[in-house]
Amino acid sequence: MNIEEIIKVVRQAGDILLGAKRPRVMEKSGHANFCTETDEKIQAFLVEKLKNVIPFAEFLGEEDGQDEYKSKMEKGYLFVIDPIDGTSNFIYEYRPSVISVGLLKDGRPHMAVVYNPYDDMMFWAEDGRGAYMNGERIMSDDSPLSDSLAAFGTAPYYEELRERSFDIAQKLLPLCVDLRRSGTAAWDMCCVALGRCGLYFELKIQLWDYAAAALIATEAGCTVTDTEGNPLSFTGPSSALCRARGIKEIPSCFF
Ligand code: IPD
Ligand code: CA
Repeated sequence: MNIEEIIKVVRQAGDILLGAKRPRVMEKSGHANFCTETDEKIQAFLVEKLKNVIPFAEFLGEEDGQDEYKSKMEKGYLFVIDPIDGTSNFIYEYRPSVISVGLLKDGRPHMAVVYNPYDDMMFWAEDGRGAYMNGERIMSDDSPLSDSLAAFGTAPYYEELRERSFDIAQKLLPLCVDLRRSGTAAWDMCCVALGRCGLYFELKIQLWDYAAAALIATEAGCTVTDTEGNPLSFTGPSSALCRARGIKEIPSCFF
């Protein structure tokens, strides 16, 4: 299979996102955790089309009830799908939101596609073959943290992590140029990959939030770990810390 086939499907899914108006909103568990009929529509579209790309692949997706990692997924191909990363942004028309499709092979990241349809920015990466945005090879920035923007996610659905999230953010602010909070974890990691900012952290994100973007960032020279510096599991939720090339050490605010 060719990554171009996945890119083509994700681009079509982007058209569904752009065409959606005033979607019906459903609430999930956790603070302000929403799903819309458009999330479900894009999820169903991606599964249907990607089954044609790899007929024997397993699927794990945010919005179709197939959201639990099972041990049988450790072997073979697994598509990990977030139909809309940044659902709250989508509901409130606060851009961007992205479509994220990661392909794991034997439990490790193999291919990745993340698409921001609003700005027509298509990111992709293959294990060991580099990261690209609209066909151009991308590399993360080599500036130190003191010359970089830093992004963070508020782990909005996990109230027990709020205090620690903002404690780290408060300590991080004087170490960098300024902080950003985009509302989509996959986009944040792509921004580090692209060299727009030096670091992204969040204390808990799901596998579908990071499966694709972590490979794109890694292939762009970033170091992607949990916030303690351990490798990401690629089996379920995790904290995440994505550092551009110039940020060699884990900053002191994490300890
Ligand atoms: C969320 C976004 C957000 C991040 C959350 C994610 P969703 O995904 O990526 O930026 O802070 O942790 O769950 O719910 O919009 O798909
Ligand atoms: Ca998400």
